[in-house]
Amino acid sequence: MSVTTVLDPTNDLIEQARRVLPGGSFGNMPAEVVLKEGKGGRIWDEAGREYVDFLLGSGPMFVGHAHPEVTAAVQAQVPLGTTFFGNNRHGIALAEAICDAVPCADQVRFVCSGTEADLYAMRAARAFRKRDKILKFEGGYHGMSDYALMSMAPKNPGNFPRAIPDSAGIPKSVRDEMLIAAFNDVEMVESLIREHKDELAGVIVEPFQRLLLPQPGFLQALRRITQEHGIPLIFDEVVTGFRFAYGGAQEYYGVTPDLCTLGKIVGGGFALAAIAGRADIMAHFDRLAMADEDFLFQVGTLSGNPVASIAGLTTLEILKRPGAYEGVFATGRTLMKSLDELLKKAGFKATVIGEPPLFDVVFTDQPIKDYRDTLKGDKAMLTRFNQLLRERGIMKGESKYYVSLAHTQADIDHTLGAWADAIKQMKA
Ligand SMILES: Cc1ncc(COP(=O)(O)O)c(C=O)c1O
Repeated sequence: MSVTTVLDPTNDLIEQARRVLPGGSFGNMPAEVVLKEGKGGRIWDEAGREYVDFLLGSGPMFVGHAHPEVTAAVQAQVPLGTTFFGNNRHGIALAEAICDAVPCADQVRFVCSGTEADLYAMRAARAFRKRDKILKFEGGYHGMSDYALMSMAPKNPGNFPRAIPDSAGIPKSVRDEMLIAAFNDVEMVESLIREHKDELAGVIVEPFQRLLLPQPGFLQALRRITQEHGIPLIFDEVVTGFRFAYGGAQEYYGVTPDLCTLGKIVGGGFALAAIAGRADIMAHFDRLAMADEDFLFQVGTLSGNPVASIAGLTTLEILKRPGAYEGVFATGRTLMKSLDELLKKAGFKATVIGEPPLFDVVFTDQPIKDYRDTLKGDKAMLTRFNQLLRERGIMKGESKYYVSLAHTQADIDHTLGAWADAIKQMKA
């Protein structure tokens, strides 16, 4: 694996990007990362540098980049037309596959991004409950809508349940539509829901919040409390759907919500996401079934287009095969254990958190159960570690290793070597 930097063609592209893109980037990764090609569990940048890829396009490429079966399915569809607006057979088949797989899914509505899916899931809860407020958890990520960008990553967390906007440009009034609770704090959620039950439309949660595991009983308690008051519980499964199990986190943790959102894997690397859930709530999307005032208006130009649908459907077929999840979990377990051992042996205060398909290190030895605990981690140290790893052929996001079915023993071996070397460098 070469790490050469001579005659770097990326420099021109970086300069060009700086001219035409704010901050020189699409907003996701630093401007100096310009990626060209992906195959299996590896990617290459414009300078020809090769990386073991734990970014996986921020999660969709769970079966690996350019999987031959997904590629072939997409290539067969492209000459037949790429989008129609009307129903198509691949989208219908994908909806059926989601209903078969996901415990809460009676019906499905397609959109193009997780942001939209979460936005409409919250709207569906409001339409169903005829109330406005949504409870979310501090640090929970539900895309980029005005509602989702409340207390998603507050630098200075405030008093619960007051929401803090994460972005400029959000109307001030939105703060009053959201209630914020601490993840894993059953007592707080229970008392907030009791106090606000008559104003609450729904509760949205990442069942596995970023890298935070739900403590035993937390999701069950959320289910019980919301059910008691007839408040829809929405699981944001944009990340966990088809990743933690074929039925997602709701299968993995054994708690069924009323609605869920899906994205990333379900589009097989193309722009497709979905809202799925209980038929009586999903009925609000049906103009014919609803009175005018109950109808939830939602259309989208590229929704459920045949290319994204066949890519998603083929990805699901691959994931259904025996051994698919066992393989990813085995790879993830090996990686998590090795990283933990290497850091401990070197004497770092560090905790590897997450589940085998998705994990990272937080540089603290304090227990981590909610967003505020994650702030105790040494961020500068993580940034340096990530940078050293990138120089050693490991590509990852700021705070996540996404594991793929396509990661091989050679990828694991390279990663362990890079970790050991970067840790040695950090100690020096
Ligand atoms: C849990 C979760 N929800 C929603 C989203 C938003 O999805 P998208 O980037 O497709 O809008 C993301 C994106 O990473 C996510 O992680």
